[in-house]
Amino acid sequence: MIKFVDGLFLLETLHTTYAFSLNDFSYLEHLYYGEKILIKDHEALSQKSEFLPGNTIAYSQENPQVTLENLRLEWSGFGKGDLREAPIEIVFSDGTSTLDFIYESHSIQNGKNSYKGLPSSYGNEEQVSTLILTLKERYHAVYVQLFYHVYETSDVISRSVVVTNNEASEITLNKLMSYQLDLDHHNYKSIHFNGAWAREMSKVSQEIVSGSIVHGSISGVSSNRSNPFFMIASPHTSEDFGECYGFNLVYSGNHYSSVSVSSFYNLRIQQGIHPSNFMKVMKSKESFQSPEALMTYSNKGYNGLSHQMHHFIENHIIRGYWKKRERPILLNSWEAFYFDFNEKKLLNLAKKAKQIGVELFVLDDGWFGERNDDKRSLGDWYVNKKKLVNGLQGLCKKINDQGLDFGIWVEPEMVNENSDLYQQHPDWAIRIPNQNHSLGRNQMILDLTNHEVRRYIINMMVDLLDTCPITYVKWDMNRVFSDLYSPIKGKEQSGDFCHEYTLGLYHVLEVITEKFPKVLFESCASGGNRFDLGMLCYTPQIWASDNTDAISRLSIQEGYTYGYPTSCIGAHVSHCPNHQTLRQVPFNTRFNVAAFGILGYECNLLDYNSRTLEILKDQIDIYKKWKQVFQYGRFYRIENPMLRSGCSWMIVSPDKSKAIGGIFQKTLTPHLMNLKFYGRGLDYNETYNFYSLPLKHSIKVFGDLINARSPIHIKDGGLIQNLVDYFYAIDGEVEKYTLSGSQICRSGVFLKEAFVGLGYNENTRMFRDYDSRLYFMEKASKT
Ligand code: DGJ
Repeated sequence: MIKFVDGLFLLETLHTTYAFSLNDFSYLEHLYYGEKILIKDHEALSQKSEFLPGNTIAYSQENPQVTLENLRLEWSGFGKGDLREAPIEIVFSDGTSTLDFIYESHSIQNGKNSYKGLPSSYGNEEQVSTLILTLKERYHAVYVQLFYHVYETSDVISRSVVVTNNEASEITLNKLMSYQLDLDHHNYKSIHFNGAWAREMSKVSQEIVSGSIVHGSISGVSSNRSNPFFMIASPHTSEDFGECYGFNLVYSGNHYSSVSVSSFYNLRIQQGIHPSNFMKVMKSKESFQSPEALMTYSNKGYNGLSHQMHHFIENHIIRGYWKKRERPILLNSWEAFYFDFNEKKLLNLAKKAKQIGVELFVLDDGWFGERNDDKRSLGDWYVNKKKLVNGLQGLCKKINDQGLDFGIWVEPEMVNENSDLYQQHPDWAIRIPNQNHSLGRNQMILDLTNHEVRRYIINMMVDLLDTCPITYVKWDMNRVFSDLYSPIKGKEQSGDFCHEYTLGLYHVLEVITEKFPKVLFESCASGGNRFDLGMLCYTPQIWASDNTDAISRLSIQEGYTYGYPTSCIGAHVSHCPNHQTLRQVPFNTRFNVAAFGILGYECNLLDYNSRTLEILKDQIDIYKKWKQVFQYGRFYRIENPMLRSGCSWMIVSPDKSKAIGGIFQKTLTPHLMNLKFYGRGLDYNETYNFYSLPLKHSIKVFGDLINARSPIHIKDGGLIQNLVDYFYAIDGEVEKYTLSGSQICRSGVFLKEAFVGLGYNENTRMFRDYDSRLYFMEKASKT
């Protein structure tokens, strides 16, 4: 709800209040953002100024005691005394760059319009209301419109800024943030999610003491280096308690965020397109819109904040046919075969996939041109007949005949120099003529600022998707930008190249997804190099990381859950030794981790014996039974002080009738028998059946320790061990209780005693390095 009363702008969601006022020199003074409050007299929220602080600039002669430097402002200019970082930078045709934006008008409306050319959130008139404030630069006909979209139920306020040049001459826009948020500094810390390839979303917490904490990407994409989602939090905020604010950007290109403390201990937060290499020359009457940004506040710890973000993404970002729809369990051919396959191998793999219950077969890289390695053929999107003798149609039909849907991998934004496409259209690739072009994964990026290239990609995708019933597309993108230049534009280069590229990408995705509304798109960029809300507007799920190692995935997937729901996190069970880390992780744990995402398999099932396939089938059966909860439940990260190395998660159905808890060990602490499982989010007054599934251990895990029990000597790694292992497995522990929700969540459940080397029976919990357990909870029916 949005109100304007007595100079006070009041934006309210279910649990939060955002307030600012119009002051007597027509600036908008930020008053409050946080837990919902009842404002009786907003004067009390306003900063007081009787005397001009020393060594500061008095903004105006009418208010000689006021300096902009010590005011919390909804929007700042530049050069009028506010020495903090400005959210906007403009150079006028007369060479001046001072900016003094004053309030001119505002309007309030129900609903939210879509943005031209940019993806953004959506909602109907009951779900979202919009405030548009128009500010004018005091000495120039340049306008800034501040958009606030208030999503009541999600407790999210989204923002965007439109700059319009009504001057007769051009202006140069050098920086435009999507918002500015000036808060009192309550010793907050900033929490960002940084990383690299195969190491996405490492959570980094920094105390905000002085100066600025700046994060961002200048790689051309939102990047695995620093995700656009971040938070600030009170010093003692935990997963379940305390205050925190979350921010994100609906954008896939270069982004920037800064959190800075001013000399007067105000906190300024801003986020938007990265100003580095951004220069937009705006002609007379031209407008420029920033990407939409999200803000949310929670006093229920990080879990509370995550739930708000998850609700928002599931309801107001993900759209179309796949919104809230259960996603298929897929098998991807990449780690099974890489480039080395033919129709026969694929069909054999698909047969096994069907056997274990997979729903969708995905043919990854290598099916087109002469693509036998990653050095060639990107751009040549015609089928490689040597590998697929019956073409895509033939393969697709046979896969469908086996009862599986068929999906395909593409990387449409890229071209190899060694391709027909590049030979025909060298000027379609981003490169500076007569200079060496730096490659990434041997490839170049097509120039999506060029409309002809956009049309080519659209046509290519339409042709491909018309070939046969393809129900899923993995849209990959495997390099970052370099040598920025559009050969087609020559001297008329745009100063906001990466932004224009991003707009080109959005256009292409918009057209294709509109034409094929039922095709499920999963985006991917060397894993999570473009995991952002912009992509999620078109592709309802994203491949989270090329690192499929379950232990690495614990922190990668957990990192994503702070800002993104499990329904958009692609997670696969793969082979061990893992291809990225060479780590050996039990099959159980590989499944237990991947199940907290959109489950897939990515391994050569042809190498597995029937026993292993049976294990995978059981996993898939469980996932199918609990798919709705795994994909659309409310996810909790659980701080478990008894788990000394590892993590614990829980996911609860919206009606709280079902839940799954996971407990994951990283490194075992010796001689520590005790461990509790703590739940979250259950109905405290309800009774739940709490249980684990039957477990079998291979005798191999005991090595030669088995001889302490065995009547015959079993050599570790020997023939007898293999033989016994083939016919016999050791029963693992079973947990089974009927408990109240409050017991599970508050007192926790003492699990069976851990194996510590002093004995073993079926009531012993083997919990070695990388072991894990799932616990299922179902509301007991009332008798
Ligand atoms: C990078 C992706 O992240 C992988 O999953 C795989 O699709 C390869 N590209 C194929 O080249």
